[in-house]
Amino acid sequence: MREAWVVGAASNRYGKLAESAREAATRVSLAAIRDAGLEPKAIQHTFVANCFGLTERQAHLGPLLNNGLGIPEVPSVTLESACSSSSAALHEAYVHVAGGFADAALVVGVERLGHLDTMSATGYFAYAADYPFETRNGATFPGLYATLAHAYQAKYPTRPEMFGAIAVKNHANAAHNPHAHFQKEISLETYLASPVVASPLRLYDCCPFSDGAAAVVVAAREAVRSPVTEPLVIRASARAGAVTALQDRGDLTGLPSSRLAAAQAFRQAKLEPKGIDFFEVHDCFTIAEALALEDLGVFPRGTAARESEEGSTARDGKVPVNPSGGLKAKGHPVSATGAGQVVEIFEQVNGRARGREVPRTGTALAHNVGATGGSCSVHIFGRR
Ligand SMILES: CC(C)(COP(=O)(O)OP(=O)(O)OC[C@H]1O[C@@H](n2cnc3c(N)ncnc32)[C@H](O)[C@@H]1OP(=O)(O)O)[C@@H](O)C(=O)NCCC(=O)NCCS
Repeated sequence: MREAWVVGAASNRYGKLAESAREAATRVSLAAIRDAGLEPKAIQHTFVANCFGLTERQAHLGPLLNNGLGIPEVPSVTLESACSSSSAALHEAYVHVAGGFADAALVVGVERLGHLDTMSATGYFAYAADYPFETRNGATFPGLYATLAHAYQAKYPTRPEMFGAIAVKNHANAAHNPHAHFQKEISLETYLASPVVASPLRLYDCCPFSDGAAAVVVAAREAVRSPVTEPLVIRASARAGAVTALQDRGDLTGLPSSRLAAAQAFRQAKLEPKGIDFFEVHDCFTIAEALALEDLGVFPRGTAARESEEGSTARDGKVPVNPSGGLKAKGHPVSATGAGQVVEIFEQVNGRARGREVPRTGTALAHNVGATGGSCSVHIFGRR
C-alpha cells in the first residue's frame, strides 16, 4: 500500500440544477482535475456515484462522463450505496491508488431530483430502505429517522432546543458557503415555530431535497511530484454495514455501521476522536448529527445534543462540526454528499473556506451514512 492524496476538489452550488446530472458531473469533474493541475488524460479510473439517474432516463453514467472528459477508453464504474454512494466511490479510488492499480483516479458524485415533486422524491428515496418490511408499509426517511429520535428521547433527557441548536448552527455555517443550498441563518424561534414533518422532527430538523455534484481527484504522491494545492493525505478509508430494517436492530440510539467504520478508521489512522481537529458528519436530520457524534466517540452516549446546545460543535467550539452547513443546510444531493464533505475539508485546508474557517485543520474526519445505516463510510485526512 502506498500513500494516497486528495489533490483537487470542486463542487457546484447545491439546490436545483438547470442542467442534466451528466452535464453537472462533467463540469465539476473538469474543475476538480484542473484544480489538481492535471489533464483529464492523467486520470486512469473514474468512479461515479449516482442513485437516481433512471428518473432522467439515464443509467451507466460512468462511460458518458469519460466521453465528456475526452477519455472514453478509461475504465469507469457507476456506484450506488444510497446516501453514502460517493464516499463508497472514494473508498474504491483509494483502494485503486494505494494498491497501485491507478496513479490517479476521479471520484464524482451527482444527483438530480429537482424535476420531481416532494411526494415522488420521498417515494424514490424510500426504495433505499428495506422494501418489503419498511417501504411497502409506508415508511419514509423522515419517518424512520423520527423513530430513531423517539428512541433517543425515550432513553435520554432531551428538549427540542437541543436539536434546534444543531439546525441553527448548521444554517449559520451554510450562510458562508457558496456551495450551499440554503445560505440563510435561522433563529431558534424560527426552528421551534416550524411545522412538524414526522413527529418529533420539524421542518428545520430535516435536510432538503437538493440537486448537486461534487468531485475529488485521488492520486499517488509519486504522480503529483509538485502539487499545486495543499493535498489531503488519506490516513484512513473505512466502510461498514449493518442490518438494514430498524425493526431487526436491538438498539436504536446509534447506528452500528457508524461505530464499526469509526473504530476501523481510528485504528488505520492511529488516532482517537480527540485527535481530530474538525468533522463533517452525516446530519440528514438533526438527530443524525447527535447519533454520529456519539457513534464516533466524540461525546459520551446521550450527551451530543446537549453539547451542541452548549456551543461545543460551533466553528469556534471545542469540536467544530459541519463547518460546511452539513446536509441540513448545505443540502443533501444524495450521491454527491460524501464527495462534497471532502470538498469542504479540502477547502478548509487550502484556505478557501472564507467566512467559515475552523481554527485548526491538521486532521479532519468525514462520516457518510447510507440510508438509516445499512452502509457507512468514515475517512480521516491529514496534512503532509
Ligand atoms: C422537509 C420536507 C418534507 C419539506 O418539503 P415540502 O414541504 O414539500 O417543502 P417545499 O419543497 O414545498 O418547500 C417549501 C419551502 O420550505 C423550504 N424548505 C424545504 N425543505 C426544507 C428543509 N429541509 N429545511 C428548510 N427549508 C426547507 C423551501 O426552500 C421552500 O421555501 P420558500 O417557500 O422560501 O421557497 C422535505 O424537504 C423533505 O422530505 N426532506 C427530507 C429529505 C430526505 O428524506 N432525505 C433523505 C435523508 S436520509
